[in-house]
Amino acid sequence: MQSYDVIILGAGAAGLMAGIEAGKRGRSVLVLDHAKNAGEKIRISGGGRCNFTNVNATVKAGRDRFLSSNPRYAYSALSRYTPEHFIALVDQYAIPFHEKTLGQLFCDGSSQQIVNLLLSELKKAHGNLLLDTPIDGVSHADGNFTVMTASETLIAKALVVATGGKSIPKMGATGLAYQLATQFGLKVTETRPALVPLTFEPRILERLAPLSGIAVDPTRIAVGKKSFDEAMLFTHRGLSGPAILQISSYWREGDAIVIDLFPKGDLGGILREARSSSPKLQLQTVLSQHLAKRLAQMLAEEIGITTMLGDMSDRSFQKIEDSLRRWTIKPTGSEGYRTAEVTLGGIDTDGLDSTTMQARNVPGLYFIGEAVDVTGWLGGYNFQWAWASGWAAGQVA
Ligand code: FDA
Repeated sequence: MQSYDVIILGAGAAGLMAGIEAGKRGRSVLVLDHAKNAGEKIRISGGGRCNFTNVNATVKAGRDRFLSSNPRYAYSALSRYTPEHFIALVDQYAIPFHEKTLGQLFCDGSSQQIVNLLLSELKKAHGNLLLDTPIDGVSHADGNFTVMTASETLIAKALVVATGGKSIPKMGATGLAYQLATQFGLKVTETRPALVPLTFEPRILERLAPLSGIAVDPTRIAVGKKSFDEAMLFTHRGLSGPAILQISSYWREGDAIVIDLFPKGDLGGILREARSSSPKLQLQTVLSQHLAKRLAQMLAEEIGITTMLGDMSDRSFQKIEDSLRRWTIKPTGSEGYRTAEVTLGGIDTDGLDSTTMQARNVPGLYFIGEAVDVTGWLGGYNFQWAWASGWAAGQVA
């Protein structure tokens, strides 16, 4: 029976960070995972370049950028372990990176560099890593946690649960963290796929399908009062792209999304200018100067005004503006956990201490990372939460 000070379940972003920090404090640490490799989601993240943080993933700049039943829960960890701390680590390993857009920091090269950084730090901190080891069960008695695996029984004074959410089961996601939370008397809020493409009923899909592959950048996509100005992508399954992924965290069944295809340009001005300079032009031709040809054609057909621009009234222009700037469609659902980048909801923060991530009712038990009811925006916010919550638990576990 192997015994450690701290056992961490899950060798993802949060678990590795917790292992590093606890190891640095001289604790004997084991990070355990059922996957064959550590940090698989880090490896595939950011299109293989890992958007490892966002310069705005701070409490000051990004108060509204972390969704939770209690958004204040994340503040303590996020303010103590900031993007600058992780950037310093990346600099220490001389990993080249760049800001892509909106404060998003990506590796210039492979995201494997971030996995290697974490594994190297874990080794330096004398942390142990046990992979390819499914967990059969966890129990708690006399102040000790026992973790049963097929081959051995492991014991620790502290147990950190960092097994993530339900997104991408093919990559090893399970609901283990939620099961353990329930087993230990903690509540779990409703979970749903987030940062995920939206899907539509066959009738709408038929109209959208010929547009598959077209991107519109930027669009403004809104649900209620929430909106995002980012790129949108037509796919053969529905709509995707950063603006759609972002709004998916706020969309609920039954909601319509409102798409503004001209959030920046003055569409009315463009139409009036074209009417006076080229009155013989058709609407489709003017639109195709600003949007992909196939999209311009589809939109012009849907609007159904076939006269030349010179013959169009201001009322027609208003109709065109309404159609293109307030295009309202109702998704039927999302692509689900199969492609969702994260799980919205999770272990209820009411049962956890925001400084330490420790369960209030079970001393020595910690929950960190995506498993917890804290979900960031797209763009490096979720890794920053994983680093910060892992770091916070690692200071005390
Ligand atoms: P994570 O899921 O990383 O780790 C959990 C670990 O637990 C895994 O290693 C898993 O194998 C293990 N595990 C699960 N169940 C287990 C069980 N029953 N027994 C043993 N082990 C178990 N975020 C971001 O900020 N920037 C980005 O660029 C991206 N890009 C991105 C792309 C894609 C395709 C996805 C799916 C997600 C992203 N994300 C992202 C989100 C980001 O990957 C996510 O928020 C973090 O990986 C969460 O870190 P955790 O350590 O909490 O969980």
